[in-house]
Amino acid sequence: MDSIIVKGGKPLSGQIHIAGAKNAALALMPATLLSEEPLTLTNAPRLSDIKTMTELLQSLGAEITSMQDGKVQAMSTHGTINTTADYDIVRKMRASNLVLGPLLAREGHAVVSLPGGCAIGARPMDIHTDGLEKMGASIDLKDGYLHAKAAGGKLKGAVIDFPFASVGATENIMMAATLAKGTTVINNAAREPEIVDLATCLRRMGAQIDGDGTATITIQGVDRLGGATHPVVTDRIELGTYMLAPVIAGGEVECIGGRMDLVAAFAEKLDASGVSVTETANGLKVARKNGRPTAVDVTTEPFPGFPTDLQAQMMAMLCVAEGKSVLEEKIFENRFMHAPELVRMGAEIEVHGGTATVTGVERMKGAPVMATDLRASVSLILAGLAAEGETQVNRVYHLDRGYEHVEDKLGAVGADIKRVPGS
Ligand code: UD1
Repeated sequence: MDSIIVKGGKPLSGQIHIAGAKNAALALMPATLLSEEPLTLTNAPRLSDIKTMTELLQSLGAEITSMQDGKVQAMSTHGTINTTADYDIVRKMRASNLVLGPLLAREGHAVVSLPGGCAIGARPMDIHTDGLEKMGASIDLKDGYLHAKAAGGKLKGAVIDFPFASVGATENIMMAATLAKGTTVINNAAREPEIVDLATCLRRMGAQIDGDGTATITIQGVDRLGGATHPVVTDRIELGTYMLAPVIAGGEVECIGGRMDLVAAFAEKLDASGVSVTETANGLKVARKNGRPTAVDVTTEPFPGFPTDLQAQMMAMLCVAEGKSVLEEKIFENRFMHAPELVRMGAEIEVHGGTATVTGVERMKGAPVMATDLRASVSLILAGLAAEGETQVNRVYHLDRGYEHVEDKLGAVGADIKRVPGS
């Protein structure tokens, strides 16, 4: 297995190009199942999660051609398709559950494995399935698979009140509703930019959707959707991650393609921490205002709040900030797995349930560390940029799920970083 070695202490300078959003692309790709005509995504990120979604959609009958080194994904799903999403692929990635809504809308039935690692029952997909049931589907769980069937072979519009603004459930229901009979209203919908991006693409395909980006989304079902070409929105999580690099390492970095509206809550915290973020013609430029950044408290929330997917990276920064910061994780129960690894690098962190208290230290120390999940792994690389000596981040397959060529992007702005291929 590959590992990444970072030698800390080099200030950064230059530009980093931000890719298209992984989480947007993973929702946009299943939209190909809604139409017989081609759907082409441009600005797609080159990531292993995209390969997994490609594999899943191909197993269902989609034809997918990857062009321009993966930046363009041309998809088309005509004729008869397979409606069973197999555990062997679904288990690799929770976002595989986004084929359920489109399959049900197109064929009136679907069998989709529950994503692996989830506690079966109350939590994993209840918001998705409750919504689809409101639209006239019957859904049974058998042998780890959700067996879904629309009454009369076609979903019908419904008013759906989400108990929580789930991103995936909003995407699944929105896609399902585009081909349903009548009008669907989603109350307490997620407002993430990836939802707006999906709605924009679906409108290009002929869907009638209003209110995306607000808490109430209205979808008027249509008989059929056509083809479209759609550029994937900028990855706000990759953007936030690279914005933190010069804060931790020193120097100045311009994130090309970055937009303030995608990271407003995060940029506000950086400002409070003594970091300057300026809008340029091509993106966002980030540097420390004075010396060390200062402590700041952070609570993760659904968009437009501080994103849970930037919590680990923010913690890495706060480990070297001046003072004591409190981080509260409100979206996921167990998302401080990076804390013990950062402690191995000399950080002072105390975790109690969903709260972590970080007391900044002047300098962390390089150490061999283990990536436990996608965002945790990049937080260890960020920490390594400022640590004394060498940090070896192992198990980087997590990283490759969500960051394209991290070593090239950071290396190009002056970081001492390399990938060591595993045996
Ligand atoms: C998406 C993102 C992920 C991000 C998360 C929260 C993708 C591919 N992934 O994940 O990177 O961290 O949003 O911003 O876009 N929940 C339920 N029942 C459900 C669905 C969710 O209880 O039916 C819970 C989850 O366990 C979790 C919370 O709601 O605690 C948030 O989940 P959700 O917004 O659905 O996240 P995902 O769409 O899975």
